[in-house]
Amino acid sequence: MRTSFFVLALCALATVGAQAAPQAAGPIVIKFAHVVADNTPKGQGALLFKQLVEERLPGKVEVEVHANSSLYGDADELEALRRNEVQLLAPSLAKFGQYTKQLQVFDLPFLFDDLDAVNRFQKRAKGRQLLRSMEAHGIVGLAYWHNGMKQLSASRALLLPSDAAGLSFRIQPSAVLDAQFQRLGARTRAMAFTEVFEALRSGQVQGAENPWSNIYSKQLHRVQPFISETNHGVLDYMLVSNPRFWYALPHSIRVELEAIVDEVSYSVNRQAEADNRADRQRIEASGSSQLISLTAEQREAWRNAMRPVWQQFEAQIGADVLQAAEAVNRKSRR
Ligand code: SIN
Repeated sequence: MRTSFFVLALCALATVGAQAAPQAAGPIVIKFAHVVADNTPKGQGALLFKQLVEERLPGKVEVEVHANSSLYGDADELEALRRNEVQLLAPSLAKFGQYTKQLQVFDLPFLFDDLDAVNRFQKRAKGRQLLRSMEAHGIVGLAYWHNGMKQLSASRALLLPSDAAGLSFRIQPSAVLDAQFQRLGARTRAMAFTEVFEALRSGQVQGAENPWSNIYSKQLHRVQPFISETNHGVLDYMLVSNPRFWYALPHSIRVELEAIVDEVSYSVNRQAEADNRADRQRIEASGSSQLISLTAEQREAWRNAMRPVWQQFEAQIGADVLQAAEAVNRKSRR
């Protein structure tokens, strides 16, 4: 009895030592979790980050990529980051509402003309400032990553805003997106990205808004007979870490990681539009969904229907942030 207790105690000590040792002596492990597939702009970015880190910091840093909500999903990933159980995430900008209202600017419909305009905003002072807007909550932004402009898909053809009335749309958890669909007389259901295919397939919701790459990689076009090419808003990401983890990294390692983040961000942001174009073509070629191009008048009708949402959220977002975002468009908007 005594011997076995002694052996057990030794084993327990050895286990504690084995868990602590790699942190002290072995490589630093960075868990990078996300909710999309590998064949998307974010999925590719995560894999490139892993590859470059392991080429340039061999034996010092290891990266584990957990795609498709396999480690954490929309419901728990940001809290896990705040507890330092995962060290890198790249949630959609619509998913930070609990920590800052300023990022709601990215959800405003018809605010940015295109992805180039989004890019300009993210690079200017106000956009850069927003990367630091959640540090008090244990979240530091390292970079913006593009996905693309969103398209509206549904169980029926959406040519004019009135066509959406009465339908229920899946949304990300964003008050702006909820208000945008309320403006159309539609209903919304906020749900995690992993649930979208099944919710559309079963008819729990009849519509959604996504960039082409998310539609294609999750095969949403197979359960949405119509996709209107609205480009009405943007779905982009913020690459985030836990400041307690990030700023505690040895200086030389953090500097190298930051250089890699810059390189990967450049690659993701240069490639995202082409990836979305390719996925649009794949969807069209599949023949399972009818792609609807809007006339200039139809697009203007959608813009007029959704545009009042800006005023509704201006005070929360900050007039300065909204003005800075409007200023990046090349065309006159008001
Ligand atoms: C993502 O691209 O990370 C998912 C976005 C969504 O929830 O629609």
